Amino acid sequence: MFFTNCHWSLLLCVLQTGCSWSIVPLFVYFLNKKEKKREHGGREKNSSIGHLSHISVSKFVLDRIFVSDKHKILFCQTPKVGNTQWKKVLIVLNGESSLLSLFEPHGLCGISSCPSFDTVLLNTYFKFLMVRDPFERLISAFKDKFQQNPRDEPWYNEDIAPLIIAIYRKSHWDGALTLSDLHFEEFVRYLVDVGVRRQILDQLFTNRIIHWMTYTELCAPCEIQYSVVGHHETLEKDAPYILHAAGVEGLVSYPSFPPDITRYNRTKVEQYFSGISKRDIRRLFARYQSDFHLFGYPRPDFLLN
Ligand SMILES: *[C@@H]1O[C@H](CO)[C@@H](O)[C@H](O)[C@H]1NC(C)=O
Ligand SMILES: *[C@@H]1O[C@H](CO)[C@@H](O)[C@H](O)[C@H]1NC(C)=O
Repeated sequence: MFFTNCHWSLLLCVLQTGCSWSIVPLFVYFLNKKEKKREHGGREKNSSIGHLSHISVSKFVLDRIFVSDKHKILFCQTPKVGNTQWKKVLIVLNGESSLLSLFEPHGLCGISSCPSFDTVLLNTYFKFLMVRDPFERLISAFKDKFQQNPRDEPWYNEDIAPLIIAIYRKSHWDGALTLSDLHFEEFVRYLVDVGVRRQILDQLFTNRIIHWMTYTELCAPCEIQYSVVGHHETLEKDAPYILHAAGVEGLVSYPSFPPDITRYNRTKVEQYFSGISKRDIRRLFARYQSDFHLFGYPRPDFLLN
């Protein structure tokens, strides 16, 4: 559980009719303040570190980028695109045989916390990220976090799902926060909400939202000049290419995998979206449009028209 009682009662208040909406901005303000306090309380930051090639990139982005200083490689994490395997590859490259803790990957550090990282040399680093079809990625996040419900990450079903259900379930809400299964439809409705409710939820969910944040938000591809963008759908070819381009092909290989699992599966996408209104699908496309366009994924007309 990562919500305090205070969070819950404020949220319930917000949800209930009769509660003044003026409380909402206040709530967001408090959460923001809490975040800021936490940041300032942490380690001292080198202010120049937020500038890559003189362009400022947020600390949030920098924290998602892993560094192998030894081989001068930067890897921007895009969850649900086979990142765990890439982290293993980088850990092996860094000379660490232990894969015990991937959540705090041994020998890997985020740019903004890496003690030995030299921003001046950044342009000489090999920089890459992995992408896949943005809608398939959302389905993968939904399946992985809410349907398969990983035992070591109970908060997805214990905290996040009930709140999304409470706010976005269409059937009449009976006042109890239910633990019944989150439907993909409700997850989509949360994702497409452009209002303050999603802002509040995203604040509450903290960095767990990285599983459905856009690649653009996660990796700042317009500010950071990546050397290679690998595609999950062609991983069989892209993985060896990336290792070759990074100059480490003789040192490590990408773990083998059954070829079919990375291919785009239109049937699966159609199944998941079959119950979603065209209006919500169009809004969802609008939110993830930059990910489709920037990384060469065709507009999913079969869903939108
Ligand atoms: C901050 O980073 C710059 C550039 O890498 C470096 O010259 C400077 O010494 C660093 N300052 C501190 C306090 O680490
Ligand atoms: C595609 O998805 C459907 C529905 O989930 C599944 O039955 C089928 O086996 C998948 N096809 C491949 C090639 O994985």
